[in-house]
Amino acid sequence: TLPKHVKIVEVGPRDGLQNEKETIPAEVKIELVNRLTQAGFANIEAASFVSPKWVPQMATSAEVMAGITRKPGVVYSVLTPNMKGFEAALAAGADEVVIFGSASEAFSQKNINCSIAESIERFREVAQAAKQHRKRLRGSISCSFGCPYQGQVSPDVVADVVRRLRDLGCDEIDIADTIGVGTPHQVHTVMQRAAQEFPLAQLSGHFHDTYGQGIGNIYASLEVGVAIFHASVAGLGGCPYAKGATGNVATEDVLFLMQGLGIETGIDLNAVVDAGQFISQHLGRKAVSRAGNAIVAK
Ligand code: HMG
Ligand code: MG
Repeated sequence: TLPKHVKIVEVGPRDGLQNEKETIPAEVKIELVNRLTQAGFANIEAASFVSPKWVPQMATSAEVMAGITRKPGVVYSVLTPNMKGFEAALAAGADEVVIFGSASEAFSQKNINCSIAESIERFREVAQAAKQHRKRLRGSISCSFGCPYQGQVSPDVVADVVRRLRDLGCDEIDIADTIGVGTPHQVHTVMQRAAQEFPLAQLSGHFHDTYGQGIGNIYASLEVGVAIFHASVAGLGGCPYAKGATGNVATEDVLFLMQGLGIETGIDLNAVVDAGQFISQHLGRKAVSRAGNAIVAK
């Protein structure tokens, strides 16, 4: 039987926007986060405290965090690759910090400029600081289903990184398909393997829709018992260090799936469609969410 309730983490403001070439004004990002808050998400990945040389679009993160209207109980998450990022997250009042590693050595080098082992050492300090300041700690594992630089990634390596992030004290761990190449049977294998190392209830699926597998992979994850999923409004996104990668699976599509399955999310689909229209209009292009566009066309 599938879970009765799932948590959807809206990652559009961060994963969705980080790769946009034109600088998006902070007030537009703030309006997006506020609309998503109103739509009912319990967790929104709002910003990223990384080097602005590496990801210029996220340079406004402090402004965004300072400008949003927070709803009590909602967890606003930010990415923190190192202590400099953590200090900024702390100053910004983030509720959850995300350390992001990889199951691929090649991707780790390209994305955060160090090996997997070195990244864990860097994260250790961030993890300790997060505990000390009572911040939630999430660990994300890129390239869990394949890598743009090295190709195949073994489920055993994913499991090994899960174990190391668990040992750092992560409250939640994301199994991420950065380039969207995973398919449902592989998702069964990798999720089951990860669940041997970390409680299933705290594992999440972070799927990109590059090859159109996002919804299928979420269904496969539900069959394993995963009950946390990341999605991006209007299907926004792409990763600066994964060429050709498109957005996360669109939130509207995921919500339509959950409605059909009778799985509760607590989120208002129509409000998400409106938020998707808002940001797509700002970006000057059509939303890529299939369900969202169908609802708008009705
Ligand atoms: P580095 O160059 O090795 O770091 O980068 P460094 O410590 O040598 O610092 C170099 C410069 O960056 C210095 O500035 C630092 O102050 C600055 P300079 O002295 O040259 O003027 N710096 C920072 N500035 C602001 N905030 C910081 C920070 N840290 C250093 N936190 C580093 C290492 C990790 C910083 C860099 O590689 C980086 O920022 N990478 C970020 C990459 C990134 O954001 N990628 C996208 C997010 S991951 C993702 O999208 C995948 C995910 O969605 C899951 C999935 O789909 O797979 C999560
Ligand atoms: Mg991603």
